[in-house]
Amino acid sequence: MDRIRIVGGEALNGAIPISGAKNAALPLMIASLLTDETLQLHNVPRLADVAQLLRILGNHGVDHGVAGKRPGQTAVTGQSIRLRARDIIDTTAPYELVSKMRASFWVIAPLLARMGEARVSLPGGCAIGTRPVDLLLMALERLGASIDIDGGYAVARAPKGLKGGDIVFPKVTVGGTHTALMAAVLADGTTVIENAAREPEVVDLAQCLTAMGARITGAGTPRIVIDGVARLGGTEHTVLPDRIETGTYAMAVAMTGGDVLLEGARPDLLQNALDTLESAGAEITPTNEGIRVVRNGHGITAVDVTTEPFPGFPTDLQAQFMALMTRARGTSRIRETIFENRFMHVQELARLGARIRLDGDLAYVEGVQRLTGAPVMATDLRASVSLVIAALAAEGETTVNRVYHLDRGFEALEHKLGACGARIERISNS
Ligand code: UD1
Repeated sequence: MDRIRIVGGEALNGAIPISGAKNAALPLMIASLLTDETLQLHNVPRLADVAQLLRILGNHGVDHGVAGKRPGQTAVTGQSIRLRARDIIDTTAPYELVSKMRASFWVIAPLLARMGEARVSLPGGCAIGTRPVDLLLMALERLGASIDIDGGYAVARAPKGLKGGDIVFPKVTVGGTHTALMAAVLADGTTVIENAAREPEVVDLAQCLTAMGARITGAGTPRIVIDGVARLGGTEHTVLPDRIETGTYAMAVAMTGGDVLLEGARPDLLQNALDTLESAGAEITPTNEGIRVVRNGHGITAVDVTTEPFPGFPTDLQAQFMALMTRARGTSRIRETIFENRFMHVQELARLGARIRLDGDLAYVEGVQRLTGAPVMATDLRASVSLVIAALAAEGETTVNRVYHLDRGFEALEHKLGACGARIERISNS
């Protein structure tokens, strides 16, 4: 298993190209199941989760081709993928595949909408708390599907096709909104989604579906209205930049000091996190090329945050922000409201010398003068990158074990940080 070795203490200076968003690429790829024509996606990040989803889609009969590298492209330039689901050969998504990646459960919606049935393994437990799919199934039921749970599988049926309906989500769910959208676009009649997720990745999916022929209004607001159409066609779509990757590197620069341009980043996708970073002492400047992040001289100040659905502070940046706050002046209170048990990184940060006290959904992070390197273990995707951020500012050497979590969500991480002066290397054991 690969490890990442970091020797802390270097400031970051230079430019980091921001990849396409993993959390947009995954539902966009799944949307290819809705049409027998070709969906071509550009700026798809090279990530383990993308490769895994290609395997899952292949099992349903989706052919794919990845465009070769063009002259001038580097390893960190996103790939273009052509997906074609001419015939769906299997409407079952088996446990062995779904259990590796939660988002693959979302295939249930397009399979059901196009084929009238789907049998998808229920995702197992997850390191960041119970993540049920009850609301996703509720949305499908509202569109006329019958749902049975059988042998660990959700079996959804709508032999006469789905019918438009009203879906009111009792809590904001990104996956629920993606699922409802993909089911409703081919349903007969009008669907209204209330309390819809407003995340930029939902807007990206809606834009792609619209280009495929869907009729959708209100994406990006809490009320989305979809007029179902009989069929969708192919299109080309470019995945939006990854706001979580953007915020992660912005926090890394705030942590180490320095001056980095986050190329291709869009400030409107993470304004709340950028404002929080400014309050903590970083200088953030939107430019034509992206976002420039600078911290020179001044230290970091403690700031309180509460995670919320978009446009609030994202839960996917909570662990990284906590890493930053371990070195702040003062005590920061960090409240996690989206996922229970999303504090797995606390114990590992403590191994580097962080002082953090947990009280339910609240973490009190008391800033310390210095962190010191140590062997640590990655527990989930965002937690593992928080350890990288802490290690960049720790004295001495840190080894991050189980980096396959990082490979699921961060494209060419060591390459991008190394190019800005970080002392970071991957140690391959195989
Ligand atoms: C997506 C993101 C993930 C991010 C999360 C919240 C992807 C691939 N993943 O995950 O990175 O952290 O949004 O921004 O895009 N819930 C239920 N019942 C359901 C569904 C969800 O109770 O049927 C709850 C969850 O337990 C959680 C909350 O709703 O407490 C939000 O979860 P949700 O937005 O659905 O997260 P994901 O779509 O799984």
